[in-house]
Amino acid sequence: MTDGLRKGLASYGDAGFSLFLRKAFIKAMGYSDDALNRPIVGITNTYSDYNPCHGNVPQIIEAVKRGVMLTGAMPMVFPTISIAESFSHPTSMYLRNLMAMDTEEMIRAQPMDAIVVIGGCDKTLPAQIMAALSADLPTVVIPVGPMVVGHHKGEVLGACTDCRRLWGKYRAGEIDDVEIEAVNGRLAPSVGTCMVMGTASTMACITEALGLSLPMSATIPAPHAERFRSAEASGKVAAALAKAKGPRPSEFLTAASFRNAQVVLQAIGGSTNGLIHLTAMANRTRHRVDLAAFDKLSREVPVLIDLKPSGDHYMEHFHHAGGLPKLMAQLGDLIDLDCKTVTGQTLRDVVADAEDVPGQDAIRTRSNPIKPEGAMAVLHGNLAPRGAVIKHSAASPKLLQHTGRAVVFESVEDMTERVDDPALDVNADDVLVLRNAGPKGAPGMPEAGYLPIPKKLGRAGVKDMVRISDARMSGTAFGTIVLHITPESAVGGPLALVKNGDMIKLDVANRSIDLLVDAAELEKRRAARPPYVTPDWAKRGYAHLFNETILQADEGCDFDFMRGQGKD
Ligand code: FES
Repeated sequence: MTDGLRKGLASYGDAGFSLFLRKAFIKAMGYSDDALNRPIVGITNTYSDYNPCHGNVPQIIEAVKRGVMLTGAMPMVFPTISIAESFSHPTSMYLRNLMAMDTEEMIRAQPMDAIVVIGGCDKTLPAQIMAALSADLPTVVIPVGPMVVGHHKGEVLGACTDCRRLWGKYRAGEIDDVEIEAVNGRLAPSVGTCMVMGTASTMACITEALGLSLPMSATIPAPHAERFRSAEASGKVAAALAKAKGPRPSEFLTAASFRNAQVVLQAIGGSTNGLIHLTAMANRTRHRVDLAAFDKLSREVPVLIDLKPSGDHYMEHFHHAGGLPKLMAQLGDLIDLDCKTVTGQTLRDVVADAEDVPGQDAIRTRSNPIKPEGAMAVLHGNLAPRGAVIKHSAASPKLLQHTGRAVVFESVEDMTERVDDPALDVNADDVLVLRNAGPKGAPGMPEAGYLPIPKKLGRAGVKDMVRISDARMSGTAFGTIVLHITPESAVGGPLALVKNGDMIKLDVANRSIDLLVDAAELEKRRAARPPYVTPDWAKRGYAHLFNETILQADEGCDFDFMRGQGKD
């Protein structure tokens, strides 16, 4: 098998000439033959002026290159798409699969013996891992790391749980224009990813649990020196993989690795987005995430991490308490410690090295959990035949069993226009329903599932209501919120049939969500629906590809032709 610069030659009909030409051009960069004859470690560069979460990527890249060269291999950095959560129209999720395709194809197209992917902002790590699992080249993942916390009036602030909480206070008139501006400058005090247990932190933890990144790499704060030492160490590991030609992800990731990732997802009080991404990642391999098995885990695995939005602390506190190795140690027999990691260690080795930090209270024991059950439950019922998800660890206990009158919003735009209308017929016991906000409907399944409490109710002191939708929700949000209702309304799911005033019953203990309308009436409503017409936005380009091939939430919202086995 060819390696290094000889891999994947551009086709000119003469392999010798192709290599000659490649070398002639790359020498324009000043490389020597010694450098060009080394195994190559590709390094993705997702730095972008639009992506503050990745602001430390240039420094991470320098550290990785140092590690690669100290180990005798040749680093080569190349750009890929970068996705920043708040700079991605219409949603970052809409672009995740594009980034996965871009990254996969650039890994395949360019000569490299191992790859280091550096990401962090919500959809980037999933996209990069989906790509790496499909390309199946020896891979080390480096999360960029969380921001450090902010402070305001003696209070610790974190993006973006406190963004939402304080914006809610502003909407309710509890803080004024001057104070909300001050808060705006203090919520994100450094580069790095959101420092609560949002999607970015969730995916970094899942990555470390899978063994695709180095121990502690999920939690080291983005600006810390340790972050760059970890990057240098990651470069060394990648160079060793490049020289040894493995192991590839397919050679050490097992069904147990993916189960461990699900256990960690529950135990950290992780983002609901994590379930979609992990499903998509597994579907790039021969392994699967089964929703029933995931829900069973939710009854067995306690939440042990005391982080916002389920708890009180932030990622840097989790890190200083011992990070993921300590969490996995506390989870004990819920984790399969025989699983291998990219360093060649087993998780047993990783856990054995976990630091014991006296007095820390960010990582709880199983006998003193934050919540006795896991973060998320999977619901089914006539409203969600293929499932829905609720992060009950961040919900109001009194609303987990609730029947209320539906107040329906047709779309995100409709909701935005009407939710604060003083004339809206709504009270605190109602169930807010948002539809046409799924993978295909919005498009890109926006994080609109955290419907705002109508202003008039917010001002009257209502802090939470049952809210249901086919949308997603930011991992940093909280509330009694049912998400990912599948099938989504835009493809004819039952959510499309709900009318204002219908009664909806949520019963999390029994894992059900039902529309209390008889089947004959629902059938009548279904028959009266107009046929699906391709919307104008989906007539060309990537939007067309997206609309034609996007899968539902229970299948990870990948494109149907990108799964491991290709198109059915
Ligand atoms: Fe980038 Fe939260 S906005 S991780």
